[in-house]
Amino acid sequence: MNSPVWHPFTQHGLEPPMKRIVQTDGACLIEEDGSRILDAISSWWVITHGHRHPAIMEAIRAACENYDQIIFAEYTHEPAEDLARGLIEIAPAGLAHVFYSDSGSTSVEVALKMALGFFHNSGTRRSRICVMEDGYHGDTIGTMSAGERGVFNQAYEPLLFGVDRLPFPAPGREQETLDAFELHCATGQVAALLIEPLILGAGGMRIYPASVLSELKRIAERHGALMIADEVMTGWGRAGSLFACEQAGVTPDILCTSKGLTGGALPLAATLCTAEIFGAHLSTDRRRTFFHSSSYTANPIACAAAVANLAVWHEEPVRERIGALERMQRERLQRFDTDPRFANVRQLGTITALDLKVSAGGYLSEVGPRLRAFFRERRLLIRPLGNVIYLMPPYCVTATDLDRAYDAIDEAAACFAVGRL
Ligand SMILES: Cc1ncc(COP(=O)(O)O)c(C=O)c1O
Repeated sequence: MNSPVWHPFTQHGLEPPMKRIVQTDGACLIEEDGSRILDAISSWWVITHGHRHPAIMEAIRAACENYDQIIFAEYTHEPAEDLARGLIEIAPAGLAHVFYSDSGSTSVEVALKMALGFFHNSGTRRSRICVMEDGYHGDTIGTMSAGERGVFNQAYEPLLFGVDRLPFPAPGREQETLDAFELHCATGQVAALLIEPLILGAGGMRIYPASVLSELKRIAERHGALMIADEVMTGWGRAGSLFACEQAGVTPDILCTSKGLTGGALPLAATLCTAEIFGAHLSTDRRRTFFHSSSYTANPIACAAAVANLAVWHEEPVRERIGALERMQRERLQRFDTDPRFANVRQLGTITALDLKVSAGGYLSEVGPRLRAFFRERRLLIRPLGNVIYLMPPYCVTATDLDRAYDAIDEAAACFAVGRL
């Protein structure tokens, strides 16, 4: 290893040297030798419209004329104000305030603190957090606590706090999830349900019905518990609608968004909440303050990128593009519907996933890195979650690019079947 850089989720003892990217363009990453790599997972799910969307890049350039970082206490700025208003306008109705941070994980940490602060300031003792099994909410201590436990967080286990886990609402077992939530709520201790709406991302692209989400919200309401929707992955059209909650007709009490918030161009996150939650912190008593900040809160250049992203959503046919991508994905996925080499062939909005049948599945399945290398040789950035192969491309991806990705999946399965992978 001749670089001092320590890469995320990377076992440097096993990985080949990192390839250097010199430019990004549309749905592609461009390597030093000019090779174009199809970014079929939108660079860890952040790039929505495509790399370097012209309007977003232009907004960033313009913002640099006026701003760098500005302290976000005592002062505000136009990009943050415009963005907050724009977000409230397009988010599920009923969300009224916007708290900025800088990553998906921090947006969830903020949400958890808002929920506990709400009960603390209201004089009610509630501190349990309910989550769904196989959930993923980030890699900070709080979000790891809420996420599924496994090899990724074993070393940090002594620092993690306990949460109440609901079984995944697998087909035919939806009622078990609802009953479990009802039971937890009945203790009167549940402050919030933290949930990825409609699809668990890193947990294996597991999809569940919108009716479960709306029923969970009804149960939460009945018991005075809050719902935190972690839309970090699902937001900005990935699940087919702007936010996944829309499909369940649900307004969560708190909504976390990041990744596609700036179209993926710059790091920024926002945690939206209801007037009631803000109100529980509003006081002349300093002790009721929401005690959270980070140095880069509401970076003006990132906010300007997000304002430009909102304009793209308003002015360009983004929803039509998403609809077209959904159809293109469906048409190509169909060939695997009854393919005995795969199980659980599935789609939600622009996301497709299928499980390669292997003897030992799961995230650490040995087939994962082998598949990744196979795809890399074919100039495709596809990072299976163990034996779960998924595609989550930017919305500008072409039919030809998708054909290439699906042909490679087919070829990979063929090689695997004959022991050549
Ligand atoms: C649902 C969900 N929540 C939170 C996160 C964490 O976001 P970040 O990596 O920006 O901290 C992710 C990241 O993939 C995610 O998928």
